[in-house]
Amino acid sequence: MEIFRDKKTLTDYVERQKEMGKRIGFAPTMGALHQGHLSLYEIANIENDLVISSIFVNPTQFNNPDDLTKYPRNTERDIKLLENTGIVDAVYLPEVKDLYPEGLKSKSFNFDGLENEMEGKSRPGHFDGVGTVVEELLRQVKPDNAYFGEKDYQQLAIIEKLVEQLKLPVKIHGVAIYREENGLAMSSRNERLSHFQRDAAKVIHETLVKVNDWFRIMTIPEINKRVKDIFDDERGMTLEYFEIADETTLKKTDFFYKDKKHRAFIVVNVGTVRLIDNLHLD
Ligand code: PAF
Repeated sequence: MEIFRDKKTLTDYVERQKEMGKRIGFAPTMGALHQGHLSLYEIANIENDLVISSIFVNPTQFNNPDDLTKYPRNTERDIKLLENTGIVDAVYLPEVKDLYPEGLKSKSFNFDGLENEMEGKSRPGHFDGVGTVVEELLRQVKPDNAYFGEKDYQQLAIIEKLVEQLKLPVKIHGVAIYREENGLAMSSRNERLSHFQRDAAKVIHETLVKVNDWFRIMTIPEINKRVKDIFDDERGMTLEYFEIADETTLKKTDFFYKDKKHRAFIVVNVGTVRLIDNLHLD
């Protein structure tokens, strides 16, 4: 596996691969790799000639400095894990100057309002940071296909919008959430949970599954109340938000519309660890 630690060596490599007509599949990450990331590489490997990943903990997308400091980092372990997959051809480990030559500052985007919903309200500036770093990574890696987990569903929708607005020549693919055995969505943040918290956090996915059952027989305000009650009774957990939204506009809805797709979104703080999940309602 090739390891590139700066922009020049990465872009030279990409240039050579493009000249040889190789199709590039790309999965950007912030490291602390887990099985969820591996599922991105597996799909990328099937659909492309070459798989590239990147590891960069992007400071501009953290609205909470404490979250940035505590974000798990273990690059050497991640590199070994990538090598062991046997399917990742190259990893890009840029430094701040490679992605932010003018200094650590986000661009300001308008993603047709997608950025103002849910995470946009809870984490001001977050999607400007994501948009800035993803645009730059896509311009440098020049993938044919790029892969993102559906756990961050709003991020996925925003990246699709970014690519459409900037007319970047890449196809964006959403990959289904990879779950731990108890249903908890795989996340780098899970590493910060105690054994007890990790077990207790299964209630997040269990609740979403219940919501999918209630979806046919209850109104949305009734469902919202039930979800609130579940987390009011959970010690050590705080429900930050729960919303049922239109899957396309991501706007919160209080009614089900037959001609629209709906998805339930949830954020729960387990101790100091912020966990996010979602489920398509069918
Ligand atoms: O989902 C992530 O890990 C990050 O938001 C991403 C897409 C790598 C951008 O920093």
